[in-house]
Amino acid sequence: MYTAKVMEHFANPRNMGEIENASGVGTVGNAKCGDIMRMYLDIDDEGIIRDVKFKTFGCGAAVATSSMATELVKGKTIQEALQVTNKAVMEALDGLPPVKVHCSLLAEEAIHAALWDYAQKRGIQIEGLSQPKSDISEEEHVEQY
Ligand code: FES
Repeated sequence: MYTAKVMEHFANPRNMGEIENASGVGTVGNAKCGDIMRMYLDIDDEGIIRDVKFKTFGCGAAVATSSMATELVKGKTIQEALQVTNKAVMEALDGLPPVKVHCSLLAEEAIHAALWDYAQKRGIQIEGLSQPKSDISEEEHVEQY
């Protein structure tokens, strides 16, 4: 059912934990399955994501997608991190079963929520970023593959 990469990231998640005094923290959930994901970003003055950590209270696919998402945004600029869509995360994991697509949406939205928090704290606007949803189950119908 799961690809080798999904299993590997689930068994050995990268960047699990939290960052004290993070530049931005985002928490999103899915009211339908009850899973929650929290992302912490450490962003330097040049707008580079120096560190990223996550905590996921959820299914194995949510853990694997969080882990892969942190790998994909680490060391990137804010604009590059915005390109890390749930599709990009799924591709990097060699795919997810259709019923688990929503888990990868949590990862995308958690990154956006953390960037949003960062922008709010600094009083800046990030081009292309609109206020994220805290409950991603509202938009699931758009993202079915
Ligand atoms: Fe909902 Fe995976 S089952 S996040």
